[in-house]
Amino acid sequence: MEYFTETAPMLMVSKMAEEMKGSEIIKIAAEMKKMVANGDRVFNYTIGDFDPSIFPVPELFKNEVINAYNKGFTNYPLSNGTLELRQSVSRLLHTRLGLEYKDDQVLIAGGSRPLIYAAYKTVVDQGDTVLFPAPSWNNNHYTHLCGGKAIALETSSENDFMPSYLDMKAHISNTSLISLCSPLNPTGTSFKRRQLEEICELILEENKKRPDTEKPIYLIFDQVYWMLNFGDEMHVDPVNLYPEMKNYTIYIDGMSKAFSSTGVRVGWATGPTKIIAKMKNILGHVGAWAPKPEQMAAAVFLKNDNAVTEHLEAMKLKISERLNALYKGFIRLKSEGFNIDAVKPEASIYLTVKIDLAGRIMRDGITLENAKDITNYLLKESKIAIVPFYAFGAPVSSCWFRISVGQCRMEDIEPFFEALRAALSGIEELVEED
Ligand SMILES: Cc1ncc(COP(=O)(O)O)c(C=O)c1O
Repeated sequence: MEYFTETAPMLMVSKMAEEMKGSEIIKIAAEMKKMVANGDRVFNYTIGDFDPSIFPVPELFKNEVINAYNKGFTNYPLSNGTLELRQSVSRLLHTRLGLEYKDDQVLIAGGSRPLIYAAYKTVVDQGDTVLFPAPSWNNNHYTHLCGGKAIALETSSENDFMPSYLDMKAHISNTSLISLCSPLNPTGTSFKRRQLEEICELILEENKKRPDTEKPIYLIFDQVYWMLNFGDEMHVDPVNLYPEMKNYTIYIDGMSKAFSSTGVRVGWATGPTKIIAKMKNILGHVGAWAPKPEQMAAAVFLKNDNAVTEHLEAMKLKISERLNALYKGFIRLKSEGFNIDAVKPEASIYLTVKIDLAGRIMRDGITLENAKDITNYLLKESKIAIVPFYAFGAPVSSCWFRISVGQCRMEDIEPFFEALRAALSGIEELVEED
């Protein structure tokens, strides 16, 4: 048998791996990186990450990570996370959200992603139906990993891109999991109280009908952006609305977004004891623990109410001034007659904008057909890198985009609009022929 060949052999892999799609956002970011490598100045508003020089990690958290390494906390943590961190998380949820979760109802992992994966794996069997809104972040991929049947519920700007119970009703009797996120990535919009109440009522009503021998509908409620809510509406969550939802809700949360710590990797999930225990077993085999020094540090930081509040206030100020400045600029373009729109920002690091250039003709005579063409046009023509909603499961005909301000400098906003204006003026209306 020949082991080493010059040409790569055709290797068959699992059907799941073969059909697993890569991230559309990373594809756009890769294109953008090529331009940066060529010396172009690109307005990079693509990924949901932070420039640490604008949004640093909290000082106390950073120092405690270093302390923990110096103290030698470098062996395996408990597989569900250090007790200190689980207690700090439990306290944070109690003091800031009024939620009651005991230590053994909290699971720690290396960021929120492994927890979402474990939650899916715990409740979704091959062929099970999973409902989620489109656009939304990565639910299609997690469903694929479990061999589930994805039902993406297309949302619209009329509902601020939040799904309604009416969208779910027709599928409810066959559903195993509903996966929701509020504030939502990519839109930055949140559930209004009544919207979420109606979905909880639907779940509770359906679960009452199911015998104990059957799986109930579970709800993943990803609220990784809830602490970055700066709008007039309060953040709402299922268990505060309906305490019975505690039996079925798995909360996903973590340090990454609220504490600008995407590279530090600490996340937590809270939910029913049995679900959390099963998720722990799954992640134990994956080995997706957060590093122990980071856990020790997060435990100290999250317990310090002043440090947490101070960080969140400073961060929300920076985020809201960027999002509001961008929002105003888009609304100005709209008022000037461009086919542009924007949704008022209220939370997270994202602004939702419509840049509808479909049907317009570029200088070279080629027509922009859809959001893919518009994304490329903006990148090539004006060096603006933003993410179309089709990257989050919306149709490619949708001309809505996500702008992330994690890397945005205030002084770049004016040049950004100059570049956008130039791109908008560099195309012509499609002339309809009789
Ligand atoms: C809604 C949502 N949940 C979870 C995550 C993953 O967070 P983490 O970096 O903690 O894995 C992201 C990251 O973009 C996100 O937007």
